[in-house]
Amino acid sequence: MTITPPALSVFETLESEVRSYCRGWPAVFDRAQGSRLTDEDGHDYLDFFAGAGSLNYGHNNPVLKRALIDYVERDGITHGLDMATTAKRAFLESFQHHVLRPRDLPYKVMFPGPTGTNAVEAALKLARKVKGRESIVSFTNAFHGMSLGSLAVTGNAFKRAGAGIPLVHGTPMPFDNYLDGRVPDFLWFERLLEDQGSGLNQPAAVIVETVQGEGGINVARAEWLRALADLCRRRDMLLIVDDIQMGCGRTGAFFSFEEAGIVPDIVTLSKSISGYGLPMSLCLFRPELDIWGPGEHNGTFRGNNPAFVTAAAALDAYWADGQMEKQTLARGEQVEQALLAICDEHAGLGARYRGRGLVWGVEFADTSRAAAVCARAFELGLLVETSGPQSEVVKLLPPLTVTPEELDEGLRTLARAIRETA
Ligand SMILES: Cc1ncc(COP(=O)(O)O)c(C=O)c1O
Repeated sequence: MTITPPALSVFETLESEVRSYCRGWPAVFDRAQGSRLTDEDGHDYLDFFAGAGSLNYGHNNPVLKRALIDYVERDGITHGLDMATTAKRAFLESFQHHVLRPRDLPYKVMFPGPTGTNAVEAALKLARKVKGRESIVSFTNAFHGMSLGSLAVTGNAFKRAGAGIPLVHGTPMPFDNYLDGRVPDFLWFERLLEDQGSGLNQPAAVIVETVQGEGGINVARAEWLRALADLCRRRDMLLIVDDIQMGCGRTGAFFSFEEAGIVPDIVTLSKSISGYGLPMSLCLFRPELDIWGPGEHNGTFRGNNPAFVTAAAALDAYWADGQMEKQTLARGEQVEQALLAICDEHAGLGARYRGRGLVWGVEFADTSRAAAVCARAFELGLLVETSGPQSEVVKLLPPLTVTPEELDEGLRTLARAIRETA
């Protein structure tokens, strides 16, 4: 495909230098449907990034779009603060019916501001308030968002430096396999907790991603997550699972922690909860933790009602039975087979893959290769991004609604991009 240099001038002259994705994908996008985007010059791109996990049901999913158009056309409430609305009621009922009740999860539902980092801030605040302690344990290579509280429990040095002030009250511990299995799980963490001379203040909570999306597609084993849940219970720390990127079916089950059979005290959700790319986030917690005072964690945009409409439509359409989970796991096997072949072919480049459900990563011994592969993939019409502390991993995050044929096409393009940058 020939790509003419797009007219980026207004972006370059007016938009801040902070912009990032548009640098790796220098096109002006105009339309999108399902797994594909089209730029203003008519070039098609297969999307294996899905809005950083916000478009699990694809772009402009027709079922969600219909619900949204009907709602807007009948002048349904758009902005609702945290007022009770019919759209919020319909969402809460669908969430209870399709998600919480079938899994026997007793959670209360809080609507923080509509971004992921706001849900994380709410989770951290609540944990500190419940336990009356300030310290939170996070994990190496964690990513929880860009506001100060979330950054304090995020690993990436570049992102942390952006804070411009000390990031306090967070202590990192080794994530699963951080020490290549050379040390028993949680040896260091347990020792610090039991030693009165360790310098670790008793934590209020531990925050964890079951698969670190931004941190390099690091997959925690189910037994590691179970041991963590057990440690939290024994040591009186709340367990927060940040399911902002891995929830809403990304790993197969609706919640990524289901496979491990654990029940976190607090869960954060965002990204694909609205299903349509509309901002929305949730903080879920055990009812006994609900000690908030009215308005204690407030925000103007907590009532994004169009997002509630598409969220309810997505739950009704995709989570009324176990079909979505089965399909994601089947598609995941298709990806794994293809990555196995790719990594076999490129064993000389030290290519390795890892993942679960429909989130996968390919890492190369040469840390600069992933960026080159993503750049070549873009030229070939495939959107993939890097992840990991040195951007050393090519991350695959297609919509869950991707067809086997589209997956096949994208994986063939990826293989070609790797071959052509080798
Ligand atoms: C696990 C996790 N937590 C929190 C966030 C922050 O979400 P947002 O960018 O919507 O603030 C992200 C975003 O990538 C994430 O992956």
